[in-house]
Amino acid sequence: MAENPLSSAVEFAKMLTAGGFRLDPLDSAPSIEDVRRLAKRRLPTMAFDIIDGASNHELTREENVSDLREVRFRPRWLTDISNVDVSTTIDGQTLERPYVMGPLGLQRMIGGEGELGAVRAAGKANIPFTISTASNWAMEELADQATGPLWYQLYMYKSERIVANLIKRAKAIGSEALVVTVDVPLNGKRYRDHRNGMSIPPRITPQNALEAIRHLNWTRAIMRPPAIGFRNLKDEVQGNNAVSHQEFVAKYLANLTLTWESIEDVRRQWDGPLYIKGILTPEDAQRAHKAGADGIYVSNHGGRQLDSSPSSIRALPMIADAVGDRMTVIFDSGVRTGDDIVKALAVGADLVSIGRAWGYGNAAAGEKGVLRVLDILDGELSLAMGQLGATRINALDRSFVEYPEAWHGQGIHREPEPTAVTEEVTP
Ligand SMILES: Cc1cc2nc3c(=O)[nH]c(=O)nc-3n(C[C@H](O)[C@H](O)[C@H](O)COP(=O)(O)O)c2cc1C
Repeated sequence: MAENPLSSAVEFAKMLTAGGFRLDPLDSAPSIEDVRRLAKRRLPTMAFDIIDGASNHELTREENVSDLREVRFRPRWLTDISNVDVSTTIDGQTLERPYVMGPLGLQRMIGGEGELGAVRAAGKANIPFTISTASNWAMEELADQATGPLWYQLYMYKSERIVANLIKRAKAIGSEALVVTVDVPLNGKRYRDHRNGMSIPPRITPQNALEAIRHLNWTRAIMRPPAIGFRNLKDEVQGNNAVSHQEFVAKYLANLTLTWESIEDVRRQWDGPLYIKGILTPEDAQRAHKAGADGIYVSNHGGRQLDSSPSSIRALPMIADAVGDRMTVIFDSGVRTGDDIVKALAVGADLVSIGRAWGYGNAAAGEKGVLRVLDILDGELSLAMGQLGATRINALDRSFVEYPEAWHGQGIHREPEPTAVTEEVTP
C-alpha cells in the first residue's frame, strides 16, 4: 500500500530530530584533532602556536605522533568484553583511568581563565591534575578550585631555598605526587614563537596587532587582572608581570649546574611518589632509580626541547625493559587519541600523561573544552580496549601490539655511555 506523503514527511522529520540539535561544534567534535581546529579558530596565531609549536624544525614533535601511528594492534576477537575496567593503581593511588593531566604552564596566554577552568574540569572528571611551576596561577589558587587529586611539577631552580619552599607548599596543598622536570636546563628554541614575536616581552608586529584586534575576546582575557606572570613565584621574584618574572628566572633561577645529586636532596624532602620527567634513555632511567625516584616520565616535552630527540614511543621499549618492575613508567608526548593511550600501555608504560590534548580543549572552550577532551579520550580508550579484547589495564602487554624491531635497538648504531669509566676515573 502506498504511503501517505504527509506521514512519510512527518516520519522523516522525526528521524532528523531524533538525535536532538547540536549547535555547539565542541559537543560534536569527534576527536582531539577537531578540538585542536576549534582552538586554532579561536586564538590568534601567536597564542595558538604557544601550545601547538615545538622546537626548531619540530622533527621530534611530528615523530611523537607519527611513530605512535607505527604501532599496530593485534585484536583478540570473541573475548568476553561485557565488563571492561580501565581503572588502575599507581604507587598506592587508585585512578579511574590510566592517564593523568600533565603539567602545562602559561595557560593564561591562551585567554580565558588559564589553568583555573582546567583544574575544575579535572575535579569533575576525577582525574589527577598536575600543577606546573610555570602556571599562571599560584598552586594555592588552583588548589582552591580543585575537587580532585593534585600532583605538582617542580622546576629545580638555582635557589635551594625557593625549591624547598615550593616542595613544602606542594605538600601543604595535598599534592599526591611530585614530578621533577629535568629536560629544561635551557629553553628550546621555538621557531614559531620567534616568527610570531612571541617572546617575553612580546614583540609588537603589524601582524600580531591585527590578530589581537580580530580576536578581541582573547585580548580582553589576557588583559584581565591579575597581570599574567609565574604566580608560584610571586613572593620571590621582583616585579609583578611575566616580563619581570621571566627576567628574574633567567638571571637568578636558571640552574646550569644541576646534577643527579640534587634529585637525592629532593628525595629527602618528599615522602610521596617522586617522578622524574624527561627521560629518553635507559641510562638516565637507571640514574633516576639510583637517586631514589619511584618513577620516570618517558618524555621529550612534546618535542619542545631538544629537537631530533627520539619520539617517546620509540624510546619506551628499551627503557621499560631496563627498569622492569623497579620503577613506575609514565608515558608522555604525542598522545592524541584513546588508542595512543592503549598503545603506550601495551608497549610498556604503567600510566600515560596528556599534554597538548587538554591544552587544545582549554584553548577551545576552557573548562568545558577540557571536559570534552577527557570525554573523547575516555570513549576512545574503552572502545579500543573492547575491540582489542583487553578487559583490564594490567592485561595490556606487548602481545596486543606490533611495532618496529629497531625500537629495541636492532639495526641502529648506538654506543653505550662510558658511565662506568667516568665513575672509576673520579679522584
Ligand atoms: C604550552 C605548554 C606548556 C608546557 N609547560 C610545561 C611545564 O610547565 N612543565 C613541564 O614539565 N612540562 C610542560 N610542558 C610539556 C608537557 O608537560 C608535556 O610533556 C608535553 O606537552 C607532552 O607532549 P604532547 O603535548 O605532544 O602530549 C608544556 C607543554 C606545552 C604544550
